[in-house]
Amino acid sequence: VIRSVVAGCGSFLPEKVLTNADLAKMVDTSDEWIVERTGIHRRHIAADDEKTSDLALAASRKALEDAGMNADDLDMIILATTTPDNTFPATATAVQAGLGMHHGAAFDVQAVCSGFVYAVAVANNFIAMGQARAILVIGAETFSRLLDWDDRGTCVLFGDGAGAIVLKAEEQSGTNEDRGVLTAHLHSDGRYKEKLYVDGGPGSTSTVGHVRMEGREVFRHAVVNIAEAIEEALAATGFTADDIDWFVPHQANKRILDATAKRIGLAPEKVVITVGEQGNTSAASVPLALDAAVKDGRIKRGDLVLLEAMGGGFTWGSALVRW
Ligand code: ACO
Repeated sequence: VIRSVVAGCGSFLPEKVLTNADLAKMVDTSDEWIVERTGIHRRHIAADDEKTSDLALAASRKALEDAGMNADDLDMIILATTTPDNTFPATATAVQAGLGMHHGAAFDVQAVCSGFVYAVAVANNFIAMGQARAILVIGAETFSRLLDWDDRGTCVLFGDGAGAIVLKAEEQSGTNEDRGVLTAHLHSDGRYKEKLYVDGGPGSTSTVGHVRMEGREVFRHAVVNIAEAIEEALAATGFTADDIDWFVPHQANKRILDATAKRIGLAPEKVVITVGEQGNTSAASVPLALDAAVKDGRIKRGDLVLLEAMGGGFTWGSALVRW
């Protein structure tokens, strides 16, 4: 069978850092409250002239270098974002132009915080069908642009950044020992679209709008949905929680991660956690966490890595990847 093998990864964070102490000067909050409820200490915020495509391009260049490839080797770019440079064209086309790539296809995927897992699943299908040999898959966000800086319930939670991987077609034996994406599972349920949304856009106010969220409701659904998607990935492959080497979840909130790991019986030391230093970077959080754990030597070739995410819509999903 043809598998989508991870050939390289990279990430990029804007230089500017906003600490909880900085936020306490802007809204009625405290470092103690934020750390206790979310585990977040600081987050990176894009400069005024830094766009999602700039962060995406920086992460992509590192991923291509890590893979020992260049834009000529790619057939496709899939970029997951909820904060595009413009309403159209797709931010992926800005990355394509930035890489000097004039062939193939580039498009965005919108599944908010689940975007990267969605993009991996889409890329995996193109590769499995033999329609692409190498795909750059990116999660990139300037989420700070959607925040209402007067709403303490949301503005403390998010940050900006980008991560990317290169998926490459490789002929494999078709067993669980194969490298690459072994299984991927996507879900959404639009009944919950008002629990977490942006109150703007062409179809409503014609402004960009701000994030609105029912935090407790999101929390309640997140743990249940994520656990289900993980169980689905385990059932599809026959692996158990003990077989997982690294759990790389969407980084929304440390309490959600702890609760999820506990629910599925994963040892806490297998969970990659970056939320404390980066906040919730939406579609960028999974590839940012992946890159951190690969570069510091935790994730090694042959390791079984479990990805999952949940976000607005609601959307959620999981993927099992052998590195
Ligand atoms: N600082 C201080 N107080 C605050 C803050 C803040 N930053 N934000 C809210 N409060 C107050 C509220 O006003 C409320 O005060 P009141 O009791 O006087 O009315 C009190 O704290 C409790 O508010 P809740 O919203 O009930 O607080 P909760 O314990 O639920 O924590 C939180 C809020 C952290 C948002 C939590 O609900 C949560 O983590 N939800 C998950 C949401 C999430 O992670 N979303 C990310 C996007 S979705 C995703 O990526 C999966």
